[in-house]
Amino acid sequence: MWLTRVFVVFCAIITIAHCSNILVILPTFGPSHFYAFDALVTGLSNRGHNITFMSPLVPKSVKSKNVKHIPLTGDHVDGITFDILSSHGAGDTDSHAPGFLSAFAFHNMAMKTCGSVLPTESVLNTINNTDNKFDIVIVEAFVTDCFAPIAKEFNASLVLFSTSMLMPWYYDSIGQPDNPAYIPSLMSGVPSKMKFKERVVNVMVHLWQQFFRYVFIARFNDVEVKDIYGKPIDSGKLIQDTSLMLTNTYFPLNGAFPNVPAKVDIGGIHIGKLKAVPENIEKWINESKDGVIYFSMGSMIKGHTFPEEKRKIFLKAFGRLKQRVLWKWENETMPDKPDNVMIQKWMPQYDILCHPNVKAFIAHGGLLGTTEAVHCGVPVVVMPQFGDQHTNARALEAGGGGVVLNFREADEEMVYNALKTVLDPEFNKKAKELSARFRDRPMSPMDTAIYWIEYVARHKGAHHMRTAAVGMPLYQYLLLDVFGFLAVCTLSILFIGIYVTKLFFRLVMSMFSKSDKKQKKLKKN
Ligand SMILES: *[C@@H]1O[C@H](CO)[C@@H](O)[C@H](O)[C@H]1NC(C)=O
Ligand SMILES: *[C@@H]1O[C@H](CO)[C@@H](O)[C@H](O)[C@H]1NC(C)=O
Repeated sequence: MWLTRVFVVFCAIITIAHCSNILVILPTFGPSHFYAFDALVTGLSNRGHNITFMSPLVPKSVKSKNVKHIPLTGDHVDGITFDILSSHGAGDTDSHAPGFLSAFAFHNMAMKTCGSVLPTESVLNTINNTDNKFDIVIVEAFVTDCFAPIAKEFNASLVLFSTSMLMPWYYDSIGQPDNPAYIPSLMSGVPSKMKFKERVVNVMVHLWQQFFRYVFIARFNDVEVKDIYGKPIDSGKLIQDTSLMLTNTYFPLNGAFPNVPAKVDIGGIHIGKLKAVPENIEKWINESKDGVIYFSMGSMIKGHTFPEEKRKIFLKAFGRLKQRVLWKWENETMPDKPDNVMIQKWMPQYDILCHPNVKAFIAHGGLLGTTEAVHCGVPVVVMPQFGDQHTNARALEAGGGGVVLNFREADEEMVYNALKTVLDPEFNKKAKELSARFRDRPMSPMDTAIYWIEYVARHKGAHHMRTAAVGMPLYQYLLLDVFGFLAVCTLSILFIGIYVTKLFFRLVMSMFSKSDKKQKKLKKN
């Protein structure tokens, strides 16, 4: 730590080019979004950068001299129960309705973020304080871009950070290819090798989400924030200024897709050093001869609202296994809990997953948990519920890291079979191989993120990293004008060709018929 301090002081005195004033803005309230940002802020502050971090949750690095935390308040969604989920048809891996319906949820979140989080006093004070100087503004790339104009206010380079795969509307803004033939849209819940029906769904979900975003969310938000910035805002145009798009994904897990230079993948950035597992839990794990299954549905879904009938199904399936089960359960007790099940309100998930005696993970497919499981090489039974979870689950399955289980349909036999599958040593081997592929990279995700953020600072926005596709009209991007032109040329040549040939034949025919007549005349005479 003292080294960091020295570096910071050093920076402040000599102001070397490497030290930047960075404003980081995370307006979303979900812990899963926060952990990735928190890691990035910690990394940047350890490098000696001067960070101002706006977020609803308090960062680990809050006590660092070079980190100033500005708490965000406002309306937000506070955790999701299984009742809400099931009423929206979530948890059913065969249903594609959530891919479309989620647009309304995004709309709701965007309205709350722009309408109640942006106009809070702490945010306005930061924007209006002319003493503030920022070189780089890092904003979350999620449901709304009404915080992005802040970069322009400070004449700073805009860096976006998506804590999941890209939302459907960010492809355009950085000129990133999004061919739905093989690139799954975030909300469509299909694998990258798609069958015909899946491609139909993928195209429809992708277009629908973009359409809804541009027509309803972006326009409304732009109007809403006009007074805050004191001028009309076109957020769609503004984010085309993005210098760098960071995503918390990495291809061995999320799938191989083309990346433009301005898109940099830093999947696994939140994964830090392993810490000791609390003693009572570690003892329980150590003492299980046949290994342990870790069961958690994430931070947003409240486990104690788990449907009663499903809970019984899982307990019956667990009763048939030799393994012990660690279940993240928010209540003090659980009725009819068998001896091989331990419940805990909170557990250090990553440290547990990496414990050598943990043999399987039952999860909801949130990206952070999925990434941790892949990093630790633990096979997963994924029961995706909402958001990007369906797509994460399919990608994990395709990579050999787990199997997808339809939570809605699941009965005792299906749960038992899914667990048996992933507990098989062969399956475990595949998960370990996936883990090795995921960890094998030229630079750690943290170093990669820091390198490219500093690169943007060194090269004053580094706009040379953007392809010419950014801002290109759609008809040009899809080459409609060129194909149209070529089609007209081809048709013209074809028509002229036919016309000339016809003319030629007519000429020849008429010559023949003339000579015919002449010959007949000659014969008569
Ligand atoms: C760090 O940033 C804050 C907020 O912009 C600013 O007040 C402070 O002077 C900066 N410190 C350095 C060393 O640049
Ligand atoms: C669990 O086992 C490991 C490895 O054998 C050991 O280092 C650790 O102290 C054990 N923990 C407990 C709580 O028994």
